[in-house]
Amino acid sequence: MTPTTSTHFPAGFLWGASTAAHQTEGGNTNSDFWAKEVVEGSILPERSGDACDSYHRWREDLDLAVGLGLNSYRFSLEWSRIVPTPGAVSLAELAHYRRMIDGCLVRGLQPVVTLHHFTNPRWFADLGGWRRADNIAHFEAYVAAASTILEGVEWVCTFNEPNMLAMIATMFDDGQREELVAGALPPPDPAITDVTIAAHHRARALLAEHTDAKIGWTVANQNFQAEPGAEDIAREWGWPREDVFIDAARGDDFIGVQAYTRVRIGADGALAAPDGSELTLTGWEYYPNAAAEAVRHTAQLLPGMPIVVTENGIATDDDDQRIDYTSRSLRALADVAGSGVDLRGYFHWSLLDNYEWGSYAPHFGLVQVDRTTFARTIKPSGSWYGAVASANGATL
Ligand code: BGC
Repeated sequence: MTPTTSTHFPAGFLWGASTAAHQTEGGNTNSDFWAKEVVEGSILPERSGDACDSYHRWREDLDLAVGLGLNSYRFSLEWSRIVPTPGAVSLAELAHYRRMIDGCLVRGLQPVVTLHHFTNPRWFADLGGWRRADNIAHFEAYVAAASTILEGVEWVCTFNEPNMLAMIATMFDDGQREELVAGALPPPDPAITDVTIAAHHRARALLAEHTDAKIGWTVANQNFQAEPGAEDIAREWGWPREDVFIDAARGDDFIGVQAYTRVRIGADGALAAPDGSELTLTGWEYYPNAAAEAVRHTAQLLPGMPIVVTENGIATDDDDQRIDYTSRSLRALADVAGSGVDLRGYFHWSLLDNYEWGSYAPHFGLVQVDRTTFARTIKPSGSWYGAVASANGATL
């Protein structure tokens, strides 16, 4: 008898969707990314503006997630709201995010809370941001404040994609927006690498003391694949951009894997997508094996570590293509889970069509958002994914 896919997703598997504060809330005016959007001559084509108005419509978002059949929801707290100026903690904003956590819990959604998803308070960026080790104390103060609202939260991610953070910072210095579109980013700033790793370890200690949550961080897995003869180059390429961050997760309770595509590495570094390959709206190669390969890579570096796919998805206006991508991705992940990797969950990026760091054009959502009324409309892929989730993968 052929085993069914469902046997490969363990009981209690987290089936969720991911979002991030800046991309969905709207009006995130005290954040450094907002400042980058509105500065004269900004390299960002579009401003986030009202985003999906999820700051006010989060209940609707949670209703959608649970209505689809999901059992978990990943979102981020916005530091620049909670700590508007150094030393000041907004109890009202903490209460807002606590209501969201309670909103998840009453609906039967496991909240997966990210403390830092790319954005910083403007004042933190003005102090030199993640390039300065003495700024970690500011992050710790924020994490301490956040830890007071985390009761009942089982999964906490300190940072989202610190490796991407280290790479996009350089991009803004150089003003090279095109590099982001092509998927081959500038090299990470080593100072940001060191400081975010140290900050993660300090936040982890603090959270372990004050909460019962499982603590980890998420890494952008780029699936660096060596062309024949470029194996050493690919290893050297991958260490500062990805593996050093996976390595820094040793001692965590879990690691979040986030993958969308692959990047081939030749003698001179990153190569463009193969000629004739299908590209998504972000210009990335259509590569549904991305998440499974990234999970395997992570499991090789961190044997036995519980893994959650905290992001995976596709920017497309062809919703059948989203279903095709996601079903292939999930079938490949079922095989990985079946091979003994401790895979705990899958979070689709994203619940909503949202602000893709400079543009609303790439649509990653399971749910469409009208840009003027903010009305949400479930796409066929949303209903499809919800049915897969409800059946723990058996319908794949
Ligand atoms: C980020 C998201 C982003 C997604 C698609 C990840 O790098 O965590 O914020 O929208 O990929 O680009």
